[in-house]
Amino acid sequence: MIVTIDGPAGAGKSSIARRLAERLSFQFLDTGAMYRAVALAALRRGLSDGDGDAIAKLAGELSIDMRHERTILNGEDVSAAIRTSDVSAAVYLAADNVAVRQRLVELQRQIAQGRDTVTEGRDQGTVAFPEAQCKIFLTASPEERARRRLAELVARGEPITLEQVLSQQADRDRRDAERPVGALIKAPDAIEVWTDGLTPEEVVDRLEQIVRSQQ
Ligand code: DC
Repeated sequence: MIVTIDGPAGAGKSSIARRLAERLSFQFLDTGAMYRAVALAALRRGLSDGDGDAIAKLAGELSIDMRHERTILNGEDVSAAIRTSDVSAAVYLAADNVAVRQRLVELQRQIAQGRDTVTEGRDQGTVAFPEAQCKIFLTASPEERARRRLAELVARGEPITLEQVLSQQADRDRRDAERPVGALIKAPDAIEVWTDGLTPEEVVDRLEQIVRSQQ
């Protein structure tokens, strides 16, 4: 069974999807980490805007392994390196590249082949797994999402204000919505879940109920 969880940045998708996968004893796939890994590799090669063909070629040559919730790039564990703000700021180099998207969607399907999977991203229910049995669109108001993101960054010791987080978030939302391929759109058959005011536990409970009702 494939469960897709799509939604905007800061809706809590990663932690919710991970916990849901644990409860169901499904594999968990964080597809944002795959775009981050390609962006990291591109940055390391000094590639940037205007190097779309080189980034596509690079993505075709990289080995990306998503094992035990770690992201392994050409044999190196880059799980922490892909979370820096440099990589966040450059991830569009991978996410806006149509050839990179094709390659990663292919890889996502290989990883899910024959295994019960909770997969999380922007285009999982629309492009990667349009036939998925259970599709969730997880979202929250911009203010709630920004407050959560701020708390995360402050906990990590990054000096940033709520206004800055809101403005970065608005940029990411715009990019996610305007991407010509793999844009963030709610699949017509996805169930929308708003997480404002809910604890992570409550959200996971709600999603577990939804999945079990469709099993
Ligand atoms: O969820 P995240 O912040 O780790 O995602 C990183 C970036 O990758 C984000 O800008 C959106 C993009 N992304 C995407 O285009 N398609 C996906 N399936 C997952 C993420």
